[in-house]
Amino acid sequence: MSHTCRIELDGKTHDFPIIQGTENERAIDISALRDRTNYITLDDGYGNTGSCKSAITYIDGDQGILRYRGIPIEQLAENSTFTETAWLVIWGRLPTQEELTRFSHRLTQNEMMHESLRSHFQGFPPNAPPMAILSAMINAMSCYEPEMMDIEDETTLERAAARIISKVRTVAAASYKMSIGQPLMYPHPEYKYCENFLHMMFSLPYREYIPSPEVARALNLFLILHADHEQNCSTSTVRMVASSQANMFASCAAGVCALWGPLHGGANVAVIEMLEFIRQSGMNVAEYVSRVKAKDTKLRLMGFGHRVYKNFDPRSKILKAASDKMLAKMNISDPLLDIALELEAVALQDPYFVERKLYPNVDFYSGIILRAMGIPVNMFTVMFAMGRIPGWIANWKELHDDPKSRIYRPRQIYTGNTIGDYTPIEQR
Ligand code: ACO
Repeated sequence: MSHTCRIELDGKTHDFPIIQGTENERAIDISALRDRTNYITLDDGYGNTGSCKSAITYIDGDQGILRYRGIPIEQLAENSTFTETAWLVIWGRLPTQEELTRFSHRLTQNEMMHESLRSHFQGFPPNAPPMAILSAMINAMSCYEPEMMDIEDETTLERAAARIISKVRTVAAASYKMSIGQPLMYPHPEYKYCENFLHMMFSLPYREYIPSPEVARALNLFLILHADHEQNCSTSTVRMVASSQANMFASCAAGVCALWGPLHGGANVAVIEMLEFIRQSGMNVAEYVSRVKAKDTKLRLMGFGHRVYKNFDPRSKILKAASDKMLAKMNISDPLLDIALELEAVALQDPYFVERKLYPNVDFYSGIILRAMGIPVNMFTVMFAMGRIPGWIANWKELHDDPKSRIYRPRQIYTGNTIGDYTPIEQR
């Protein structure tokens, strides 16, 4: 393998080092390009740009591989819990029993929100989007945690991480309760992470909701599958904000905003809306696919395609198997699942999707499993955010711990007006 890349510009040659990752991914290190040549690179949508070196998550999009800290997602889905996976993603290895117990204990200690924070919910209209509430409340939390603003040691970092991971679940459930006009439930200190969230979502005073093991397991699985996904839009946003040395709360709140859009985390809502549209309109699946392919509207097959996966998204395979199992066990039949299966079959045979390597992504089946758990559609993207918090924290920590990290500041190619004079208003 060559160790340098030679570029010829304006009659001069320049050598740039080639760097290689632990899984043999290669990159041309152009960090000295502008200084040496006065040129920059232009990469719309960053499809060819590595923004950092990272040791958290590995994806091979052609082979459908996803590993957190080297461990295949299939093994974590089978054996781990969300709490353990969160620790793995943030601290880089599986925790010992002692570390896991300590972290779980910290999650329990931090499960309540500050009483004054509860009154913030009154400021939102009842139909406020839960993602807006979540982002605002994560930022607001920082006002109650001044000692977490400067993280200079691992203990403070573990405390801050536990606070965000734990309280996000309380805020998420509270935003749902507010939206349906029910009293906000306090967390139950005896419950584990997922059971506690389900309790806060579905219990009522004097009417306790006891989650079944299947539902708690399905939620664990959903959150594990969403825990990290290298430099996606929201994680890059978190790193961008963190690079200015903004605190962990501000950086994660920005991540929630980036996740909200329908091309990213909002796709799990868009998938259900698409399946509902097909069901209610009585349109057959083939007709819907033809409309997508015609491209005369901005219509896309939601839950299909991915910037990195050009093969099956391994998370969608796991979720599909889990939703089949869960629906059978709970004796639920979901007409939307039938439409999803039909859509998948049609798309996977269609040259439009085959040629463009468009396969189902994680969002294609996640809505089905969330519906079976009783989670309302307007909470789907919030569920994604809850799962992704460990990944955002891990990326925040990686950047924070790197003595060489610099503020993120891309360049641009200016295409606006060239110089002109200011005209007084009466002469325009
Ligand atoms: N339906 C129909 N056509 C599609 C789809 C789709 N879902 N996705 C991509 N295409 C087509 C594009 O129209 C384009 O066609 P062209 O070459 O004829 O112009 C080609 O495939 C390449 O598409 P891009 O938009 O360039 O791909 P990009 O990598 O920028 O986008 C994305 C990836 C945003 C995920 C896209 O596939 C998409 O919009 N999918 C639907 C939304 C979705 O499911 N998002 C969730 C992503 S996963 C996540 O965030 C958890």
